[in-house]
Amino acid sequence: MCGIVGYTGKKNAVPILLSGLRKLEYRGYDSAGIAVSTEIGIKIVKLKGKVRKLEDKLLSYPLIGNCGIAHTRWATHGKPSAKNAHPFRYKNFSIVHNGIIENWKSVKDELISLGYKFTSDTDTEVALICFYDLYKKLGINAAITKLTEKLKGRYTFLFIDENKPNEIIGIKSGNPLVIGQNSDAVFAASDITALLSFTKKAYFMEDGQFFVAKGGSLKFYDFAGKKIEKSSEEIKWDVKEAERGGYKHYLLKEIMEQPDSLNRVMSGRLNLFDDELRESIAPKGRIICTACGTSFNAALCFKYFFNMLTGRSVTVENASEFRYQPFDLDSDSLVIVLSQSGETSDTKEALSIAKMAGANTLAIVNSWESSIARMADNRIYMNIGPEISVASTKAYSAEVMILYLLALRIAGEMGVSKEKLQIWRDRLSSVPEICTHYLSNITNIESIARKYYKNKNFFFIGRGIGYPVAVEGALKLKELSYIHAESYAAGEMKHGPISLIDNDFPTIAIAPDNKQRAVLFSNIEEIKSRMGQILLISDKKLEGCDILIMPEIDSWLSPFVYILPLQLLSYYIANLLGNDVDQPRNLAKSVTVE
Ligand code: F6R
Repeated sequence: MCGIVGYTGKKNAVPILLSGLRKLEYRGYDSAGIAVSTEIGIKIVKLKGKVRKLEDKLLSYPLIGNCGIAHTRWATHGKPSAKNAHPFRYKNFSIVHNGIIENWKSVKDELISLGYKFTSDTDTEVALICFYDLYKKLGINAAITKLTEKLKGRYTFLFIDENKPNEIIGIKSGNPLVIGQNSDAVFAASDITALLSFTKKAYFMEDGQFFVAKGGSLKFYDFAGKKIEKSSEEIKWDVKEAERGGYKHYLLKEIMEQPDSLNRVMSGRLNLFDDELRESIAPKGRIICTACGTSFNAALCFKYFFNMLTGRSVTVENASEFRYQPFDLDSDSLVIVLSQSGETSDTKEALSIAKMAGANTLAIVNSWESSIARMADNRIYMNIGPEISVASTKAYSAEVMILYLLALRIAGEMGVSKEKLQIWRDRLSSVPEICTHYLSNITNIESIARKYYKNKNFFFIGRGIGYPVAVEGALKLKELSYIHAESYAAGEMKHGPISLIDNDFPTIAIAPDNKQRAVLFSNIEEIKSRMGQILLISDKKLEGCDILIMPEIDSWLSPFVYILPLQLLSYYIANLLGNDVDQPRNLAKSVTVE
């Protein structure tokens, strides 16, 4: 979590750093700050709150200089406050940090015993003072070596030094760091969206590396201080994709662009990844899918679809629980990890456990050259451009589409007939058009949002493939609106949850035309007879229920189509409640802590 950005070049650093922070704000927005090497030394402006507030403050306290670092925070050690905001300063150095120093307490105690004083509650200030202490004794390169030996955890730092006013040093160990370069400047950032407006030439830092940049010059080293050569890559994302394109919020733009993003996902993939996965992918042994949050919910759709197609089961596990289970993985197993950001700590950890066990690993990721993409044996990119809004929407449908296509690929390798696969390919090809038609003809979602937005609790229920859609619908509502929303397989309601039902506790029922719909409708009657209000997401009306009417489609396509009204409903409710829909409270897009 947290976004860090750095610049050294010929221009004024402040607008460039602020532009980077705006792009990285999805990573955390508890506080923001900037440090610039000015003519009179390093100057820092920082505060509790968002980048917009920092911009306002900089109007009254302008900073001018060609080199600087900046930070947007998702608080871990120390509550959100100006005191705990980055950058920190100690003597000639200033630092920004993304990550967690696990042994901060023992290092801090040691530094206190040496007489150092601290001004904040953060682990970052501990790292800075520790670095200064080592630098004083050993000089810069040896101090970096010793610092990285001493600190435990995952951290990425950017430093500036008042004695070398155009220089930035960046250290990577665990959390992402991308360096951009053009003819007269070097940029550093937590991800490439912050660099897109300035350059397309990028270097992806590996763990155990640091860089030193000054103006346009850039050198890379390993932690032992040995110089290394790195090759640059061309960033393929377009700057326009990282902008709002006329929509009020990124979230709305990303919901509405799903037909287009699904077309991009499928482009060249109806051959079922023949170009990307050259070897057979169907494992002799088990298939496990692991991910967090919305990516996990996409994996749940795969579980149902794959089982219907092949009769074989898939295990789907929360990446945060993966390490606690002795899965019997070996070279016959296939472990599929999903991650929009490609940096989620728990997913990364699950992937490395799977690799250690010798399993064949496949990553489905959006962020280009992200850690997870690079760790896995095979990778499939979503190709949908950056997803900026913190709540995931277009990455969800992209993940489900890739998983469905992958299910067809594996099913083909397992002997499912070409004719059957072709029927499914045709059905999947029709999805973008169905979504376009649905999104162009929406009528009553806003009025339904107005009816329900004051409710404090919601159930989301479904059966069969409707169930994972219900799970994702509930997650969207709670994270955007801060309303309590719980999802259940509809059959579970009678085992406890139904006791909560009354007139103030509505249920949203996902009811595509599948075999389970008749029994789902019975469950709805049970809720209605206990005075529960029902909002039906279906192509079939039911007496006494509100409905968001859906097109008549094959029920297996509901993860793409039925999710649209649920995403939009959450969006409108969050708007009516005055919430920040692109940056909901307490969240961050890239969850790089355990
Ligand atoms: C929900 C949401 C999160 C992410 C989760 C995993 O809208 O965005 O639940 O899905 O943090 O993130 P990735 O896919 O980047 O690993």
